[in-house]
Amino acid sequence: VQTVQLMRDPVGFLTRCRDAHGPIFRVKLVGFPRFVYVAEPELAREVYATDRTIGRASPGRKDFLEPLVGERSLLCLEGEEWLEHRKLLGPAFHRRQVDRYADEIERIAADVLREIPTGEPVALRPWMQRITLEVILRLVFGVTDEQRLERLRHLLPELVEAGSSPLVWIVPRGLERRPLLTKFPNPIGRFVRLRAAVDEQLYAEIAERRRTGADGRTDVLSQMLDLDDVALRDELITLLVAGHETTATALAWTFERLVRTPPALERLEAEVLVGEEEYLRAVVREALRARPVVIDTPRFLDGPLSLGGYDIPAGWYVSPAMPLVQGAGEFRPERFLDEGAGRDGWIPFGGGKRHCVGSHLALLELEVVVRETVRRLELEAVEAPGERAKLQHVTLVPGEMALVRARERRAARVPA
Ligand code: HEM
Repeated sequence: VQTVQLMRDPVGFLTRCRDAHGPIFRVKLVGFPRFVYVAEPELAREVYATDRTIGRASPGRKDFLEPLVGERSLLCLEGEEWLEHRKLLGPAFHRRQVDRYADEIERIAADVLREIPTGEPVALRPWMQRITLEVILRLVFGVTDEQRLERLRHLLPELVEAGSSPLVWIVPRGLERRPLLTKFPNPIGRFVRLRAAVDEQLYAEIAERRRTGADGRTDVLSQMLDLDDVALRDELITLLVAGHETTATALAWTFERLVRTPPALERLEAEVLVGEEEYLRAVVREALRARPVVIDTPRFLDGPLSLGGYDIPAGWYVSPAMPLVQGAGEFRPERFLDEGAGRDGWIPFGGGKRHCVGSHLALLELEVVVRETVRRLELEAVEAPGERAKLQHVTLVPGEMALVRARERRAARVPA
């Protein structure tokens, strides 16, 4: 019953639990029967501190992600091999490294934004997905071959969609290779076929990169060539799965909030059009606060944990409930303009040792794409009520996919 309630109205369900039971409460969810949520910044910090002791992030992700991302994925690894991968990927996603991508992201965004239909209601999220997929393909994977780009543009979203079917998670591995399962149309066979088709493209790209070397290239793949082929393949899919839809959803929520908060949108337009970026930075951080994309970040406990006055046994999961820890409240970017304010309990990218490795790239994408959109389009809400969050996997997606009406900006002031 609680699982159904969480699926139907995730934020409402969590809020009701908090109101009835306080800032630490237990839920019973299918697949996660022993699960404790915390709802306050200090308790969230204590949960993330377990990354140094008894907390493990991979068990909560493995079941539904491993068939897609593989065993050698940063999301599913622990211990030494996790550290080795993280040390390789971390520097590639350092702020100074990703800042070099700003111009390319702007070009990608401009190309997609030109095609958005104007004058009629349009759901922005699919358009944002096109932008964020292109960013992953070109800047993270570093694919330049037009044919390969075109194939991956179609295959990758299909693969991720096929991989989200619960059938794919519960069918034991190996069974999927049985000819009967792949011969007739069925969700598992489709997933296996798509995965093979994507892998073929990725292994070809990896082989080519090894031949030509990383010389002078700035993409992420070129900086990970110390990994073996299987680990590289797994990490490429991981970066796609972790970075594509999350960033598109964050963009969708940013516009969903902006069109319903005209003073914030007007101030953003005024500043962006004269080349000011401070308010823009506050807007994307406030959107991530008011509408976090990821609902929770569970840690599996290898030992007992004393938390918020309770003793939680080994073998249980604990997690911050992101929407509760961050506090909903009104959409007010100004809170991020005052030094340090708005930061307490700001955990859209998780925390501890397993915090999001792509956070700098995500923030850069958000800033550049929002700026480019505001320069080119005038946006307004189609309906007054805000969109309700829908649970998709572990992400909270705007129920109407960020439905807006867009018009070309009349006095287009796009700097040369
Ligand atoms: C707005 C966009 C994004 C949001 C909200 C987001 C959020 C998160 C969250 C909450 C986690 C789990 C942290 C934890 O368990 O404490 C995570 C992990 C991760 N994210 Fe992101 N992310 C975003 C974009 C990206 C991008 C662009 C990439 C890379 C291209 C990326 C790569 C990863 C990876 C690899 C992990 C696993 C890290 C590990 O387990 O060591 N993410 N992200």
